Amino acid sequence: MSTGRRDVLAALGEPVDAAVRAVAPAATEDERTVEATLRPRSLDEFVGQPQLREHLRIVLNAARARGQAVDHLLFAGPPGLGKTSLAGIVAAELGVGLRITSGPILQRVGDLAALLTDLQDGDVLFIDEIHRLGKAIEEVLYPAMEDGKLDLMVGKGPQARSIRLDLPAFTLIGATTRIGLVAAPLRDRFGFVGRLDLYEPRELADVVKRSAAILGVEIADEGALQIAGRSRGTPRIANRLLRRVRDFVEVRNLGAISQAAASEGLTVFGVDELGLDKVDRSILEVLCVRFNGAPVGLTTLSQVVGEETDTIEEAYEPFLLQRGLIQRTPRGRMATRAAYAHLGLEAPADLL
Ligand SMILES: Nc1ncnc2c1ncn2[C@@H]1O[C@H](COP(=O)(O)OP(=O)(O)O)[C@@H](O)[C@H]1O
Ligand SMILES: [Mg+2]
Repeated sequence: MSTGRRDVLAALGEPVDAAVRAVAPAATEDERTVEATLRPRSLDEFVGQPQLREHLRIVLNAARARGQAVDHLLFAGPPGLGKTSLAGIVAAELGVGLRITSGPILQRVGDLAALLTDLQDGDVLFIDEIHRLGKAIEEVLYPAMEDGKLDLMVGKGPQARSIRLDLPAFTLIGATTRIGLVAAPLRDRFGFVGRLDLYEPRELADVVKRSAAILGVEIADEGALQIAGRSRGTPRIANRLLRRVRDFVEVRNLGAISQAAASEGLTVFGVDELGLDKVDRSILEVLCVRFNGAPVGLTTLSQVVGEETDTIEEAYEPFLLQRGLIQRTPRGRMATRAAYAHLGLEAPADLL
């Protein structure tokens, strides 16, 4: 007698469909309407990251030519750069189904079993924040990724037995903002690791223009560039700022988004010329003023600024580092001369 999916889940005490719903929840209405309408749907619509796009095209075409499921893919990079979009694009380009879950949601082995056994041949399973998967889940994932097998222990004590299920051929796509935290054995099981870099203003201007067209907002090239220049290298931020500027222009009855309108609107919303927001500036102020240019540990910084250490490391630091406003030293984070200049302050004489 073969062991079927329902038997396994029943043995694990899982109500099948509830389990799948719990680990792959539908997005909220808001997320769906805003992000989904602006999400690129094909590799051609995906702006920027030319090298990554080229590599992906090769991987996808090769799999299509072989008629096989695509190798497992891992996308790494700061939030808002297009990792989730790429997972959707891969599924769309292959014409296969997409299931979405995330490391923090996927807590129990039974949840993963429910999800894996629910896949159709060729489907993509997307695990966001994959660096936050638990050890037990990872152990089940390894044979699933490598051999297409689901190895499970069912029952407890003397009745415990191990069972093995064949899984449909599937592609796991992982996304992480912290590649360094992905366990090495997990990382090694991905056939392709794509790193996303912060975008150039010119690329972000293309993102803004594309989104403006979708939203039916008129925008001048200089207006798009103005928004792009303040978007911290991040398409998600570019789209968010575009919507704020659209509100501003509507309320003021300014018509199309010009450079001046974009600039004034962004200033009204507290986004400065570099695109720094309140938290960015507060990080710089803490380093420059409160600690007077001395190195500050991440934990201290997080307490003083009032943001999680993860948020500071993943969402704020990459851009501040890229723009040379802060530096990481073995003793902690330090402001640079550029940070003092940006805040209009005089740097201490001994600062490098
Ligand atoms: N390369 C891109 N081209 C166009 N729009 C993009 C691109 N990357 C991201 N976006 C936009 O930014 C938003 C956030 O992207 P997302 O894929 O959710 O980022 P991540 O998963 O890396 O946090 C998307 O809704 C999409 O509108
Ligand atoms: Mg995402």
